Amino acid sequence: MTTWITICDTCKREGWDAASGAPTDGEALAELIEARAGGTVRTRRVSCLMGCTHSCNVAIQGAGKLSYTLGRFAPTDDAAEGIVEYARLHAISETGQVPFRQWPQPVKGHFITRHPPLPKAE
Ligand code: FES
Repeated sequence: MTTWITICDTCKREGWDAASGAPTDGEALAELIEARAGGTVRTRRVSCLMGCTHSCNVAIQGAGKLSYTLGRFAPTDDAAEGIVEYARLHAISETGQVPFRQWPQPVKGHFITRHPPLPKAE
């Protein structure tokens, strides 16, 4: 089953300089994540996940599964690899729960919220 990584592309970390014309930290992280996704892991960008004070933020979601928001990432290769690896584990999990012992190191300490799946429609 597909797991989606929703990446906030307007996140800016402390020190980001608007005058420099550089991509936002969220755009930079999105590019690194998109380069590693594929197969069971798909990506999309949104502008603001309302977690601006702990940028950079992403959401991990799959139909009928637990979903998560993770934040406080810097736009680095390590962060992108950890996020995509975690999403791959989420995709193969029946419930969306991934045992802690399997969490990639770069996502540890970055979980912000967890949302239970919606009840099945009647
Ligand atoms: S700008 Fe990224 S969460 Fe608001």
